Amino acid sequence: MDRTRALAMTVNGEAVSRDVPVRINLVDFLRGELGLTGSHVGCEHGVCGACTVLVDGQSVRGCLMLAVQADGAEVTTVEGFAEAPGETGRQARALQQAFHRHNALQCGFCSPGMLASALELVQAGKTCDRAEIREHISGNYCRCTGYQAIVDAIEDVMLGRGGQ
Ligand code: FES
Ligand code: FES
Repeated sequence: MDRTRALAMTVNGEAVSRDVPVRINLVDFLRGELGLTGSHVGCEHGVCGACTVLVDGQSVRGCLMLAVQADGAEVTTVEGFAEAPGETGRQARALQQAFHRHNALQCGFCSPGMLASALELVQAGKTCDRAEIREHISGNYCRCTGYQAIVDAIEDVMLGRGGQ
């Protein structure tokens, strides 16, 4: 039987505390314990990026981080992006609108993780060229869009074009 440990974190602005198995990873905790199924699970070994969430503002593979490693952290998932306070929420809403406007999603499986990586990049406050945007999202696989529309959407937000 797994050992358990007390865990306390903030998830999408709400305080959460649970006793969790020490071996459960963050994305399984978010999905299974908290019902936040917006973060997807694809490869389960750090390759596809579908499970990407923000932990203290940094993009993290939810399948590679143990839930207990996020003890005390502020976790933001796709369910909380648009409602996040301040600039984070504003930029998240702009990205969601830009993804919609550019048809930057089809099946949507990659989109929560893709948005997390895009939000991290936009929040860094730099203006990147398209190659740099591609580099930043290179750990998020999309099997539908061919990436062009995703880069278009992120570039739009970065350059302040519409959707804000
Ligand atoms: S499910 Fe985590 S990187 Fe693929
Ligand atoms: S929209 Fe289908 S995998 Fe990206």
